[in-house]
Amino acid sequence: MHSIVSRINNTSAFLSSCLMALLAAIALSSFAFTAQPQGDLAISSIKVVSSNARRYPNKKQDMAFVHFNITADLTPLFHWNTKQLFLYLEAEYANAQGVKNEVVIWDRIVRRKEDAFIKFAGKNKYMFRDISSSFKNVPPANYSLKYNVMPYVGMLTTGEAARTSEPVAFPPTQSRL
Ligand SMILES: *[C@@H]1O[C@H](CO)[C@@H](O)[C@H](O)[C@H]1NC(C)=O
Ligand SMILES: *[C@@H]1O[C@H](CO)[C@@H](O)[C@H](O)[C@H]1NC(C)=O
Repeated sequence: MHSIVSRINNTSAFLSSCLMALLAAIALSSFAFTAQPQGDLAISSIKVVSSNARRYPNKKQDMAFVHFNITADLTPLFHWNTKQLFLYLEAEYANAQGVKNEVVIWDRIVRRKEDAFIKFAGKNKYMFRDISSSFKNVPPANYSLKYNVMPYVGMLTTGEAARTSEPVAFPPTQSRL
């Protein structure tokens, strides 16, 4: 009786260390396959519109509408340990007060390798405004396309697939008609 129990214990301890070793091997092997995909990101136009702030009807709030164009082949990021990709477009700028900001203005989850060739033209999905409520005197911003690779096993890895070649200026504010 005692020996059966201890044999089961030994076996399950052995199996769980095998499992741990296997998981560690999978997690490590995905580092060996870290691809560096290169894409293109172009900002086709930016419009800044003044509107009433949502909660304070007398206060004006600038909103930026960024039209962009992405081409990126992210298929190399899909291997046996890739569960999905989280892809996002970030605006990087320092506002008129000099505060650095990184704002996510668009994102997409890619679950299948077949969908990992990204060709997209459109505009920001999330509202883009500055905490100071204006884009006046804000220096030009850089835009970058970043991704997180979510694995089945192991750590999340992050990378950048594209970036604007030069900073893009915010145009003067228009008032909404
Ligand atoms: C998107 O960018 C590609 C190259 O990066 C360009 O060939 C294409 O014309 C652009 N499309 C639009 C709608 O701007
Ligand atoms: C934008 O990129 C350029 C070139 O890499 C850099 O010199 C500049 O500081 C960046 N601007 C911002 C606001 O991050």
